[in-house]
Amino acid sequence: MTTVRPVLVPDPAVQQADADWWRRAVIYQVYVRSFADGNGDGIGDLTGLRSRLPYLADLGVDALWLNPWYPSPMADGGYDVADYRDIDPAFGTLTEAEALISEAHDLGLRMVIDLVPNHTSDRHAWFQEALRAGPGSAARGRYIFRDGRGADGAQPPNNWRSVFGGPAWTRVVEDDGRPGQWYLHLFAPEQPDVNWDNPEVREEFESILRFWFDRGIDGVRIDVAHSLVKAPGLPDVGTADLEVSGSAANTGHPHWDRDEVHEIYRSWRRVADAYDHGPVFVAEAWTGSPERLARYVREDELHTAFNFDYLTCPWRPDHLRRVIDASLDVLGGVGAPATWVLSNHDVVRHLSRFARPQPDHPLRTLADLSPEENPADVDLGTRRARAAALLMLALPGGAYVYQGEELGLWEVEDLPEDMLQDPIWERSEHTDRGRDGCRVPLPWSGCTTPFGYSPEDTATEPWLPQPEEWKSLTAQAQQGDAQSMLALYRRALRIRRAHSGLRGAGMTWYSSPESQVLSFGRPPGFRCVVNFAEAPVALPEESRVLLSSGPLTDGLLPTDTAVWLAE
Ligand code: NOJ
Ligand code: CA
Repeated sequence: MTTVRPVLVPDPAVQQADADWWRRAVIYQVYVRSFADGNGDGIGDLTGLRSRLPYLADLGVDALWLNPWYPSPMADGGYDVADYRDIDPAFGTLTEAEALISEAHDLGLRMVIDLVPNHTSDRHAWFQEALRAGPGSAARGRYIFRDGRGADGAQPPNNWRSVFGGPAWTRVVEDDGRPGQWYLHLFAPEQPDVNWDNPEVREEFESILRFWFDRGIDGVRIDVAHSLVKAPGLPDVGTADLEVSGSAANTGHPHWDRDEVHEIYRSWRRVADAYDHGPVFVAEAWTGSPERLARYVREDELHTAFNFDYLTCPWRPDHLRRVIDASLDVLGGVGAPATWVLSNHDVVRHLSRFARPQPDHPLRTLADLSPEENPADVDLGTRRARAAALLMLALPGGAYVYQGEELGLWEVEDLPEDMLQDPIWERSEHTDRGRDGCRVPLPWSGCTTPFGYSPEDTATEPWLPQPEEWKSLTAQAQQGDAQSMLALYRRALRIRRAHSGLRGAGMTWYSSPESQVLSFGRPPGFRCVVNFAEAPVALPEESRVLLSSGPLTDGLLPTDTAVWLAE
């Protein structure tokens, strides 16, 4: 029986006249498991998040994006969804989610959720049915099952690799006890890929979108948006493409960024546009070039896409300027705003990326940073992270803030091996520690762990251990400190809302492309200057300092420091 629920229409205060809010929104990413634990089991939950909503409203962000909150065996942090229309019991209930949406709206915060359309959990009812139903069944037709290669079918159907390491195929045991067909999983074996050639799959995901839009959800982040469609016949991946993981080196890749995926998003856009509150989409699409990314945000497709070239860019003026220019250029070409992001739950926190010599290549994993030869210099990383925040928040478009960056948290690089939970650790045969280091629970208050993350007197430890040094980085410790990272983010976000220069879409460079200084204006009357050179530089005449990421020396802007100016 279907229960008819009342439609939760967003509060009019939230549903402002500004239908274009997403073009310049600052969206705060909540990794629910690590944000705040309300019931003391060491796992973040909706009760904890609801109690901290005033903190987020006060920070000055426009919206929250929550990582997957659905029932899940958590083989990949919830990106293995067992039921798309409910909430994992460790996080709460659907009723609590509805209360959260309404409380967030009351505080002027919009709500974006994560949708995982490329794969389900192997515990999803569809996959369980597919296993039981056997080869050739309609239930198997919702996934990508194939016979193996070789005389006895013992070889995987093709050479595709899992992003987490190892082959992208797992062989099942059929009902008669014999080894049977193989199923595709571009990620962990617990995450079987669904078959987007099947109309039933398309209908199901559109119905899931409506389920959440009916509950007032304002936006959807689309997980691996570039992977849904696979080439007919599932041909082998070419040698050049086998070298790259997670995106395509070339167009024509058999499973990344195929042209046919865009029809799915045109259809999703029609679903969203039917709602008066104008829900929006953000694509997680790792593409080979900004031009390919822009195709996802054409007028009749998705609204925005994450800027992974910016996320992985080293702290170098030449690289940053190239990425900024290319992003604005190609996205502007299709009428879409740029987005900027420094950290998320999949990459090493930017404070730690920037806390070392900066190479000529993108930075994403610990291995990219050669941590043994280049240990993190936290003071350097902090100085640069402060400057990076002002640079990002001064750029035209939207921005993402990953929980804890406003507290100046660093990557925890030395988590005990027996506590690592990311499937990458096992699947890489213990050569890659994975992404747990950026997912450590937040420090809120107090001088001892769990720093207010769990209620007082909780015996259960947080699901990942917090460093003792974070006692000076709790939200409480930073609250009254005008020099803290938290104070910097709060001031920057207030100015960003108030200054008319920061509301427009344009920017003009005042520095040359070769310069060690990035200097640009946002008319009317706003300028941002970031110094990457060793020597301090003079500020433009007749400008007034609105905010600076660090102290000026004799009126000069020191290295690794950014300033916002009124002129
Ligand atoms: C991207 C998500 O951000 C990541 O955490 C996840 O492991 C993969 N997609 C697979 O769903
Ligand atoms: Ca909990």
